Amino acid sequence: MSDPKAFYLTTPIYYVNDAPHIGHAYASTAGDVATRWHRQRGEDVWFLTGVDEHGTKVERAADAGGVTPQEWVDRLVEDAWLPVLETIDAANDDFIRTTQTRHKERVQRFWEVVRDNGYVYSSMYEGPYCVGCEEFKLPGDLIAGEGEFEGQQVCPVHSRPVEHLQEENWFFRLSAFQDRLIAHYEANPDAIQPRSAYNEALSFIRQGLQDISMSRSSVSWGIPLPWDEAQVIYVWFDALLNYATAVGYGADPDSPEGRRFAQCWPPDVNLVGKDILRFHAVYWPAMLMAAELDVPRKVFAHGWLLVGGEKMSKSKLTGIAPSQIIDTFGSDAFRYYFLRAIQFGQDGSFSWEDMSARYTSELANGLGNLASRGTAMVARYRDGALPAAHDFGAPEQELITALAAAVEVADRAMLELDFSTGIVAVKEFVDRVNGYVTEQEPWVLAKDEANAARLDVVLYTICESLRAIAVLYNPLMPKAMASLWQQLGAQSTLGPIAEQRIADVARWGQLLPGTAVTKGESLFPRIEEAS
Ligand code: MSP
Repeated sequence: MSDPKAFYLTTPIYYVNDAPHIGHAYASTAGDVATRWHRQRGEDVWFLTGVDEHGTKVERAADAGGVTPQEWVDRLVEDAWLPVLETIDAANDDFIRTTQTRHKERVQRFWEVVRDNGYVYSSMYEGPYCVGCEEFKLPGDLIAGEGEFEGQQVCPVHSRPVEHLQEENWFFRLSAFQDRLIAHYEANPDAIQPRSAYNEALSFIRQGLQDISMSRSSVSWGIPLPWDEAQVIYVWFDALLNYATAVGYGADPDSPEGRRFAQCWPPDVNLVGKDILRFHAVYWPAMLMAAELDVPRKVFAHGWLLVGGEKMSKSKLTGIAPSQIIDTFGSDAFRYYFLRAIQFGQDGSFSWEDMSARYTSELANGLGNLASRGTAMVARYRDGALPAAHDFGAPEQELITALAAAVEVADRAMLELDFSTGIVAVKEFVDRVNGYVTEQEPWVLAKDEANAARLDVVLYTICESLRAIAVLYNPLMPKAMASLWQQLGAQSTLGPIAEQRIADVARWGQLLPGTAVTKGESLFPRIEEAS
């Protein structure tokens, strides 16, 4: 019997011409939060990320660094790309490098299949190529240059002139898939999101698809074509296949890898930046159709982190390293900020002021304060033992109802990758509970023994609300929520936080009276102002 389909999500694989900046970390963070959410729902999940190591861009960076491409990528992957996953606290299941044997062999096999199916032929390519994008550009793709490039045609993403190529290549018969792609997207309007990306991809396809080079004869750093070793596979037609090779495409179906492929394929979400939409929404499904494989269920194109209105990039020297932010605010706040402050799918700007303001108001004063007040009051008024509560009244019933609504909104939003709506639903519940504490004034109740039963109800309600918040925020802020779980003493009676299910969050009354509650260290410590 085959295993049930796993929820399979991928990030783009990143070029290792340079070290990561927060634009790259943004995509990986989004993928991590989405997959942790699915895990918290109890689903089988496979989360893949990795690096794109071939192509001219990487080869030239290695040249400039005075080392071989392999030395260059080995060093950068070890020193920068693997560590950044730890920095942002990503829980990926695998990390693919396109120089790995598993990838190279399976890419070669894939293109053999496509060639056998009649979709590859030899011809001359002549036209513009942007090394920054590693892309054969079409005439309509270029824009007029400015400043030092005035009078020249430039790439709209890199604002630099493109190179002119003329080489004998192997071509992929993309044009053969135009009608099938249109039919597929018309039948599956959610297969590309957001809507603006869907419209852009469909209008590109409707304008007519031309065949495209799938190999390069003037490049050597890549995977050799199995039938023409003088050429390497065009870097994008090697890189896109990582989504298949990493989960075992081409492996014996009875081997563990072959079974993984059966369980994962097709991807549920290929998460990409909007600059690489065309590769993922047009070329990629066409390649899969040519090899008779199922196409991804969804391609989601997120926006860019901007600096001064332009895409943050290393080549423009505007890249901020994730550790620059995380060293100060921590990985949880980083994850929270970018997914909360920017509507996923839109562009957004990062500013230290905005980050700092939200950290203080929403995390330190909002959630952090609620957690420390709640746990501290159980410690002070009830010797650290969670009291039993009887007679929940109207204020508590309101919270219970609000919680159920928050869970419903958050779950729907997170499944749609609408992170900010999901986060706001939980945040509003946090605000409500903070409001409840202010209204109920447990510190006043504590002054009169006659109010003891009422104080028990209020303290229990605060802790039980924190229990629900911890689970709902666990995919987003795993470190702080593990600490909160610890403070609530929940592990001993409810088990690990990762095993709590979204579907059960709103079930009231899970914390066991008598549990030891402790006020631990502050979840979101005050940030010392830089002098
Ligand atoms: N190697 C290709 C992807 C191959 S996927 C089969 C590539 N690499 S990249 O390193 O240039 O970019 C990887 C991803 O990072 C892209 O989705 C891109 O949108 C994203 N970002 C790079 N800079 C970014 C911002 N400033 N903001 C948000 N995302 C950004 O393209």
